[in-house]
Amino acid sequence: MSLAAGGHQGLPRLLAGLEPGGAMTLAAHTGIHGPLPVVSAHRLIEEVEQSGLRGRGGADFPTARKLRAVAERRRVGAVIVNGSETEPASAKDRLLLARLPHLVLDGAVLAAGAVGAREVIVKVGENAVDAVSALEGAIAVRDRDPVPISVVVGPEGYVAGEESAVVHYLNGGAELPTFVPPRPFERGYRGRPTLIQNPETLAQLALVARFGSRWYRELGTVADPGSALVTISGAVQAPGVYELAFGTSLSDLLAAAGGPTEPLQALLVGGYFGTWVEASRATRLRLAREDLRSVGCTLGSGVLIALGESACGLHESARVIAYLAAQSAGQCGACVYGLRAIADAVGALASGVAHPRERDRVLRWTSEVRGRGACHHPDGAVRFVESALAVFDEDIDWHRNGRCDAAPAGLPLGGAAVAGGRLR
Ligand SMILES: Cc1cc2nc3c(=O)[nH]c(=O)nc-3n(C[C@H](O)[C@H](O)[C@H](O)COP(=O)(O)O)c2cc1C
Ligand code: SF4
Repeated sequence: MSLAAGGHQGLPRLLAGLEPGGAMTLAAHTGIHGPLPVVSAHRLIEEVEQSGLRGRGGADFPTARKLRAVAERRRVGAVIVNGSETEPASAKDRLLLARLPHLVLDGAVLAAGAVGAREVIVKVGENAVDAVSALEGAIAVRDRDPVPISVVVGPEGYVAGEESAVVHYLNGGAELPTFVPPRPFERGYRGRPTLIQNPETLAQLALVARFGSRWYRELGTVADPGSALVTISGAVQAPGVYELAFGTSLSDLLAAAGGPTEPLQALLVGGYFGTWVEASRATRLRLAREDLRSVGCTLGSGVLIALGESACGLHESARVIAYLAAQSAGQCGACVYGLRAIADAVGALASGVAHPRERDRVLRWTSEVRGRGACHHPDGAVRFVESALAVFDEDIDWHRNGRCDAAPAGLPLGGAAVAGGRLR
């Protein structure tokens, strides 16, 4: 293997050379990052392991461990780029696919070499028209890839991006999670071992393959090396996708997005499977697993939503949990009936018509629903609800007494991400 002499110092890394407009050309991409490196499977997995890279689709799983699990199997089928981006407030994957397609495709092709896959499939949602045309344009000019690459467009919907749902859809079924095991790395696309990764994970892998793990670790912390794409929206001056080093404080993240437009009451960290945190606490945290874990959150798929004082967190949370309940794939009783009951109860709390013990009932139901689905949809949804009831507890009385006159913040529910925002 030949690791290139050195990558970019500091930031941006993934977003280096990004200009307003369309997709970066292959020539511009190669000019910035250099050609696709030649690297053995063993060395690439070693470098990825040393880099500490973890998946950026939400589950935070160590990437090298997944590569190894697939590489150890025989008759590996495909590498699937999971570009579904079903989290409504996330825009990072679409940014990468629509504007920097060669970086993601480099990562996918390198991963295919590492695990012995015969093809690469990029799966995107049907709203991502710009990503599809950028990918098709990019594939058309790449003539040195050792495996074929194709693009598959699938239906939108929150659970459509869950990995078993992606595999099921590509196998000709509905875009619904299946009951695992077998997991995709055991039996996935066309019944063969399959590697499925988020576009950002693969884009990061493409840089690790070029510049090595030591370079990768020059940014970030020992436990959380490198950089991350974060989609910042809500009450900030410049909503969009930003690349920041792990270890950056959340207040610096907000500053990167131009700062708050008004005093903040809370931040939603990690998207709709994430956690509300009071603004005074949240801004003292760093973008680091240790810090986020201390308040019960994870970075999820890299979403941060700022909620201003003028908005109503209870009302916004009621909208989001109603949306999540409606997104249940309708296969598991606890998910279907449990989330619907929780959503109705939170809606009643927000409308001020709830029974005085409704909050306690919701918390009983959330504990009953957790861990009872075939996929993690109900787990993420109840985590969100529990944090909403903790952070917006006082609002429940205000609503019961009819004293909430907050303005709608309009958290996005499906469709285009980052309402009114710009991509970076
Ligand atoms: C309900 C649900 C929705 C998901 N949606 C996405 C998605 O849109 N994109 C994505 O990359 N991962 C999504 N995931 C996570 C995937 O199942 C999987 O962990 C991920 O694609 C693996 O890639 P990574 O290891 O690179 O993160 C979702 C998970 C759940 C439970
Ligand atoms: S837990 Fe919910 S979303 Fe997941 S498979 Fe079951 S019904 Fe579908």
